Amino acid sequence: MSIIAIDGTFASGKGTLGKRLSAHYGLPYLDTGKLYRAVGYAMLNAGKDPHDSAAAALAAQNLDASKLSDPVLKSGDVAVAASKLAVHKEVRSALLSFQRDFAKGGAILDGRDIGTVICPDADVKLYIDAKADVRAQRRFEELKGYGEDISYETVLAQLLERDTRDKTRKEAPLKPAADAHLIDTTALSIEEVVARAVKIIDATKAL
Ligand code: C5P
Repeated sequence: MSIIAIDGTFASGKGTLGKRLSAHYGLPYLDTGKLYRAVGYAMLNAGKDPHDSAAAALAAQNLDASKLSDPVLKSGDVAVAASKLAVHKEVRSALLSFQRDFAKGGAILDGRDIGTVICPDADVKLYIDAKADVRAQRRFEELKGYGEDISYETVLAQLLERDTRDKTRKEAPLKPAADAHLIDTTALSIEEVVARAVKIIDATKAL
């Protein structure tokens, strides 16, 4: 069984890479951000404040994993709520076993703490990043595609706020694992990113 851990900043291209590697290596893929987003959506729906750790922990414990592909989870508001409740230790521990169980038989997981906390023994760890303005532009185009009425400036501001929150939180902050391979996608096409990742993974001879 082989595990590929992909961590990185928001809109860095890690999700697209995860899906492409899943098809290439025939391994199941989990976008772990969806777990936090689903909890965020449940909290917003119930009119709860994502800063409320007890309510967020309860929502995480009651997470309905069958709803992870609901397109509503892609919205900007849900993402912001997700990053707020992701700081709570109780939320992170409630979501831990789902992620570890998924990884058990071999898988590709992407998120913020896969290589550092969820799967510290992963066969290959990748850390994906890109310049903030390039990531904001990508996300802006994506949200426009969903018909969301949001300006580029708001997207960039939200992205910087989330970056800071994800990197500076006490619990499982976003950072490259010591043994992660870094890929900067700022000036790369999807094909180039995939090619670099495949080269790194194949060189490990783990798969
Ligand atoms: O990856 P995505 O942008 O969908 O994640 C939404 C939020 O969920 C992130 O900003 C982050 O705060 C949180 N998250 C996390 N750990 C993960 C995946 C996501 O803290 N493994």
